[in-house]
Amino acid sequence: MRLVQISDLHLSASGGFFNDNWETTLGWLQATKPDLVVVSGDVALGGRNVDLDLAFARSQLERIPCPWRILPGNHDIGDNLHSGSKSNPVSASRLQSWRDLFGADCWVEQLGFWVIVGVNSQILNAPELGDEGLQRAFLKSALAAVPEGTPLAIFTHKPLFLDHPSEDASRPDCIDPIGRKQFAEMFAGRNVKFVACGHKHQYRSFALGHVRYFWAPAVACVNQAPDIKSWGLRQVGFIEYTLDGHNIRHKVHGADFLMRHESYVYTREYGALDAPEASAERSGLW
Ligand SMILES: [Fe+2]
Ligand SMILES: [Fe+2]
Repeated sequence: MRLVQISDLHLSASGGFFNDNWETTLGWLQATKPDLVVVSGDVALGGRNVDLDLAFARSQLERIPCPWRILPGNHDIGDNLHSGSKSNPVSASRLQSWRDLFGADCWVEQLGFWVIVGVNSQILNAPELGDEGLQRAFLKSALAAVPEGTPLAIFTHKPLFLDHPSEDASRPDCIDPIGRKQFAEMFAGRNVKFVACGHKHQYRSFALGHVRYFWAPAVACVNQAPDIKSWGLRQVGFIEYTLDGHNIRHKVHGADFLMRHESYVYTREYGALDAPEASAERSGLW
């Protein structure tokens, strides 16, 4: 079975700077037709009008030529209440708007004899919303029907941790320790083969014990200047997983054929990432 993870498309209804990489990625999907595509969040740029960007993204995803599932990211429904950006918090109304547009924000999908699980990382450790309990109850019930030993692949928007599950720092770029504990409890005793995320706009793969961890690069762009610490490789692209029996092979595509947009250059030059009219007038040197 072939599963492709595309992440952090950051599509913009007003044109933006990254829509070209979506078109190129879509062409790749149309040519290769995977068995399943997982879109692991940040589908919207979420600039001046996140609702317009989300509606635009929804219409674009219709063009994927095979079954697909999607998870929300911080640009889509807001950031984690206790560890995320305080200027962009997740809210019940944003979560509901997203569900109205895209459907369930956590889900379980059969792929051959594998089970693929999508977890909404943005509502972990958010008792104020009430929905993390619903997510746990849904997954507990759905997984109760999955035979013991079934290989699981779990997708989420934010990484569970940066370097090790024992980290106790609460950072905006990964799930905080309380959310991580909730996540771990959902899958206790299960045959988790890998956990894959987006959000960091970096490619990384490593293994701890019998679990592999993948960070998908963004389709849209790389973030931050080269002299700022990164954990993974700053590149654009997407990941193709081949599930062959209990074995996993993965391959990163796109670094050699997508535009390696650098968001921090555009932000510095234009002040915003959804300002194509500004970019039409200014091109740096002339
Ligand atoms: Fe992103
Ligand atoms: Fe993100």
